[in-house]
Amino acid sequence: MDKPLSKPVCLHASAACVTALQSACTVGMPALLSLPAWSWADVLVASTVVYVIWQVRIVHFPPYLLANETNHIQLIKHEIQSPLSKIPGPRPVVLASLVYRLNRYVGDDRANVIAIHKKYGPIVRTGRGSVWVSDVDMIRKILGSHNYNKTYYYDAFRFDGDNLFATRDVAYHRVQKRLMLPAYTPSALGNLEPLLYEMGVRRLADVIREHAVAGEAIDLLDLFHCMTFDIIGEVAFGKSFNLLDQGEKKHPIIKWMYATTAHGVKKNLLGPLYHPSLFPKNIEAMDKLREFAMNALAERKAMPDCKRQDTLQQLITAVDEETGATMSDRDIIAEIILLMIAGTDTTAITLTWTMHFLLEHPEAMQRLLAEIKAAYPDAGTKTEHDTIQSMPYLEAVLRESMRLRPIVPQGLSRVVPEEGLTLGGYYLPAGTLVYSSIQTMHLNPEVFPDPTAFKPERWLTSPDQLEIMKRHWVTFSVGPRACIGRK
Ligand code: HEM
Repeated sequence: MDKPLSKPVCLHASAACVTALQSACTVGMPALLSLPAWSWADVLVASTVVYVIWQVRIVHFPPYLLANETNHIQLIKHEIQSPLSKIPGPRPVVLASLVYRLNRYVGDDRANVIAIHKKYGPIVRTGRGSVWVSDVDMIRKILGSHNYNKTYYYDAFRFDGDNLFATRDVAYHRVQKRLMLPAYTPSALGNLEPLLYEMGVRRLADVIREHAVAGEAIDLLDLFHCMTFDIIGEVAFGKSFNLLDQGEKKHPIIKWMYATTAHGVKKNLLGPLYHPSLFPKNIEAMDKLREFAMNALAERKAMPDCKRQDTLQQLITAVDEETGATMSDRDIIAEIILLMIAGTDTTAITLTWTMHFLLEHPEAMQRLLAEIKAAYPDAGTKTEHDTIQSMPYLEAVLRESMRLRPIVPQGLSRVVPEEGLTLGGYYLPAGTLVYSSIQTMHLNPEVFPDPTAFKPERWLTSPDQLEIMKRHWVTFSVGPRACIGRK
């Protein structure tokens, strides 16, 4: 029997969305709230109406429909004639899309997307101008090239302009990637190993040991967050935030980061209705984060003989061989902030799910421990990339955990370009948004029998079968926008 799916991994994202909605309803309407004639129920109804109108009229109209938006007759005609109307999916489309969004805000969109694909197939229309796809070829096609650019959704991750993750400027992305990739080669990462061990793994083990000796329960997600922030602090900002050592009185960096990403989501959600004065706390946190990054960069630049080969140093000295371009201070600040956002939560949540699965499956835990003890007979030995590479069960456990809980279960949205696209026998006009249903593909029973079960052994199979499974496993995405930190 299929195991029920646990809560989605992107709870923080849902929480951010809910916060965004709450703020839009409360902080955003102080004047209305102060009028005695308005009860809370009135405010709630009014904000829901405004929100629904906003969602229906603007967010779900891709550019090719916007031109006709003022003429409603034409709009209905267009809707009937739209090539997208042939694609299966829940109807009416506007309502389905709202239900999906509401599910997303409460954190249930993962289960909803899986159920909808089960009912309608590998390509489903989910909005006026959007479809979800769960077929491996479709997903690899839209993620696999720059032809299908990122959508407006990624603007939520832009801070003071572009960065590698959020940019929709392909030329900028190419140069920026060439500048950043040298910081992620095996030898560059090898240089970081002693730092990762000393500032991260060893200190985490100490904290866990202390709690174990005291017989205290631990919050694994919190500890993994502290560890990943400390590591990114060391490598991208040049100094640890020392969160693992600080107990309750922690550096506010995690708070700043969440406020910054929540601000991006709110800005995205409100579109032209957005104004910075609506979100003073988020703006304050962003300013502090930016100031912290600027100081880190200034401190490093004041050390011309710095011998550290960390990511910050690599970005300061990076030169693009093709164009001779270097990174401006703004670029470096934007990228180190982005690295902190892209590299901490993702890794901490993945590690937490992995521990969750291992604790639920003691036989897998025992087998993994045996492999680790064989590779590292002395508990205090430093971990090394080469040794870790030759631990097949460890890789199997991580792949299986990320198969069941990919950090982006659905999303990774891309836009159909000018010339349109035929996918799964359906024509998608320019401007259609295509969302990859990665989680649904990861649960394909033909590729992963007993798909919802945690079975690391499935990855210890023949090379041919492994190849097929790897093709259906895109936790880090694929193509030119795949994760730079995946090694
Ligand atoms: C388990 C950990 C991680 C997972 C599952 C993960 C997943 C992903 C995914 C799915 C994308 C593609 C996003 C999209 O197209 O919308 C991505 C992109 C990216 N990731 Fe990661 N990531 C992880 C860790 C990291 C780390 C540790 C770093 C850096 C320190 C990092 C830096 C980036 C960057 C810079 C991009 C943008 C790449 C580009 O657009 O060219 N990630 N990641």
